[in-house]
Amino acid sequence: MPLDILVGAQWGDEGKGRITDRLSAQADIVARYSGGDNAGHSVTVGARLFKLHLIPSGILHPRTRAVLGNGMVIHPGTLLDEIGSLAAAGVDVGPQRLLLAPGAHIITPAHRALDGAEEALRGGSSLGTTGRGIGPAYTDKAARLGVRAEAMRDPPAFAEAVRRHEERLARLLESHYGCAAPDPGESARLYREYAERLRPHLAETGALLAEALAAGQTILAEGAQGTLLDLDHGTYPYVTSSSPSAAGALLGLGLGPRHVRRVIGVAKAFQTRVGAGPFPTEVHGQMSERLRGTGANPWDEFGTTTGRPRRVGWLDGVLLRYAARVNGLTDLALTKLDILSGIPTLLLCSAYRRHDRRTADLTGTPAELEGFTPDYESLDGWDADVSRLQSWESLPAGAHAYLEHVEQIAGVPIRWISVGPERDQLIVHEGAA
Ligand code: IMP
Repeated sequence: MPLDILVGAQWGDEGKGRITDRLSAQADIVARYSGGDNAGHSVTVGARLFKLHLIPSGILHPRTRAVLGNGMVIHPGTLLDEIGSLAAAGVDVGPQRLLLAPGAHIITPAHRALDGAEEALRGGSSLGTTGRGIGPAYTDKAARLGVRAEAMRDPPAFAEAVRRHEERLARLLESHYGCAAPDPGESARLYREYAERLRPHLAETGALLAEALAAGQTILAEGAQGTLLDLDHGTYPYVTSSSPSAAGALLGLGLGPRHVRRVIGVAKAFQTRVGAGPFPTEVHGQMSERLRGTGANPWDEFGTTTGRPRRVGWLDGVLLRYAARVNGLTDLALTKLDILSGIPTLLLCSAYRRHDRRTADLTGTPAELEGFTPDYESLDGWDADVSRLQSWESLPAGAHAYLEHVEQIAGVPIRWISVGPERDQLIVHEGAA
């Protein structure tokens, strides 16, 4: 009855979708547990690129069911769009395969308007949110003012709840932010239609997941965002409003810790971040263009959800070690190793310096990162194209040295290495300790 939890070990966009895609081939259920359509997974299957924001990429495997957990915030319009595009591509997204937790919260038009209004009010110190209404939806959840997915069981009553909710937020938007608010009546009409279409997907997911575990099935909990964006353990206030780290999976699905078999952290072979906030190993200039790519390829470092160019930098081992601690990682998956091919000297941050003192572990919280400078180790790179390699043994010596160093710093074995965007461009490191 195993539960495997897959989390982002950095600031999101680590390439979790690909690893989930591989692992979900052996899972009976793949469940998203936190966040909303601020996330974006790109999964390439054959010639087709799927961009998913809410639905776990595991849905692409015919025998795997997908769950949207109670820890999520759902924009019903986005969900229906994804259902529509997957269905058009021949993927079965019927109510038996795609299950929505009643306790998930609903994102409304006023939430999105508030997200933008709050960012505008912050001006130069804005967080760089995705503008999807995530923060305001979780704010209402915590304030016990939110509308939950379960209300969609009765579409007219749901529409009425949405209307009242939108009227309250309209007053806030107009009086506090001085903004025009979305029309509550219009939102109510639209959301009633959404409820009619989504209610067949509502299911008692907590009980269903527990029964699946009891029956010996495998569940993969699919994280969105990343540990350093965690509301409690990330670089606050430059974080998202949910709990992407491993503990969030239990809360966001309604399962206890005794079921956990593995906690898999996904990290890029380098470091990226979108939005504002500290980033000790950030690089600029030529090297940043090298790591980011030009945007010509879908896997270049431009946001899946917002299209924004991502900030890029060298791999931060101190933060990776921190992510290993916060999540209790048992395994690592390192993605985009192929991007490092051809860089003569690779830098790897194994410690920080502050006032001439060296520290290999994060002291204080990641929110205090601003005062630290990275202490780099230089490693020889490799020239060979690794993107078609299929085994750990065939990787060049420079790549072995790099990977082994990362394992040593993180204190966690690297079990998967992705070397390209295709499904099969994934090396399984069988001999990982
Ligand atoms: P929010 O989640 O839209 O409120 O955005 C808060 C912060 O988290 C911003 O810096 C976003 O850029 C970042 N963020 C949210 N979701 C993702 C994601 O899926 N990948 C990377 N960054 C994200």
